Amino acid sequence: MRIIVTGGAGFIGSHIVDAYLDAGHDVLVVDSLWEHGGGRRINVRNGVSLVHMDVRDEAIARVFADFKPDVVSHHAAQHSVAISAREPLYDAQVNVVGLLNVLEQSVRSGARKVIFASSGATYGTPERLPITEATPQNPTSPYGITKMAGEQYLRFYRANRDLDFTALRYGNVYGPRQDASGEAGVIAIFSGRFIARQGVRIDWDGEQTRDYVYAADVARANLAALELGSGQCYVIGTGIPTSVNEIYRTLVRISGFAAPVEHAPRRPGDARAAQFDASRAARELQWTPTTALEDGIRAAYAYFQRMAR
Ligand SMILES: NC(=O)c1ccc[n+]([C@@H]2O[C@H](COP(=O)([O-])OP(=O)(O)OC[C@H]3O[C@@H](n4cnc5c(N)ncnc54)[C@H](O)[C@@H]3O)[C@@H](O)[C@H]2O)c1
Repeated sequence: MRIIVTGGAGFIGSHIVDAYLDAGHDVLVVDSLWEHGGGRRINVRNGVSLVHMDVRDEAIARVFADFKPDVVSHHAAQHSVAISAREPLYDAQVNVVGLLNVLEQSVRSGARKVIFASSGATYGTPERLPITEATPQNPTSPYGITKMAGEQYLRFYRANRDLDFTALRYGNVYGPRQDASGEAGVIAIFSGRFIARQGVRIDWDGEQTRDYVYAADVARANLAALELGSGQCYVIGTGIPTSVNEIYRTLVRISGFAAPVEHAPRRPGDARAAQFDASRAARELQWTPTTALEDGIRAAYAYFQRMAR
């Protein structure tokens, strides 16, 4: 299959590119290498073409027309909740107008399907856990709003323009190549501090939980979505809530270093808990996460260690 991966030089996108290549597909990466994102040329495997272009650029019409993708995996985004709150206009330009540009060009170049990186952020702070596809979406940030709007546009294009979709609502994705300057990447941030033998900051009491899902597992969900999950949205997580304190203890075990901890107050808007029930993805995409958290953190830590040398 011929597949365009937007955001394919980024953290999650580059793992998806690897999974598609390993399965024998032809891949083209479109990425603007945005200064606040995790996009790096070195994330893209040798031999894979990277078109350095913004998804809002009209010139992607030519890129799509020339490559003629069967499927487009759309992972390029303004992915910061904080930036979206400060600059909602920019957030919407990239996450909505950029998506529309990709959808239009997908239709015009004859693509069959778009796989969309949606987010647990579309749920806001739900009343009940675990989050499932039936949980009401009440986004509390412009980022969550634009991701939710993206899903609605996908439905429109499927109903009216014959472009199929699968949307994947990720929990907290972690693993090698995660950008340590990202706001939600506690495993990447802590790893960097442990490797530099520096202390870490833990907000609140550290017992707040998130559902951490390994990047290569997320990439397998994107592989499954090439053939399955027509017109559907799926929650992608492990179902296991993990606290910040548990991540800290895991890194102490892996590194043999008890990093000094500075405690800080709760950050405004920080949720107490998150947990994603991915049973629908298990049933319909035949997808289950297989990487245990400690194994995933070990692999990520080893990667960050190599990069620090
Ligand atoms: N990391 C997570 O836990 C998480 C959770 C839910 C959803 N997502 C979504 O998954 C996708 C990938 O996120 P990530 O964590 O790998 O971040 P990332 O920053 O590593 O990847 C995003 C990529 O998009 C590129 N990009 C940004 N703006 C662009 C533009 N205007 N035109 C072209 N390329 C552009 C960046 O250069 C980067 O390579 C995003 O859509 C994000 O919203 C991520």
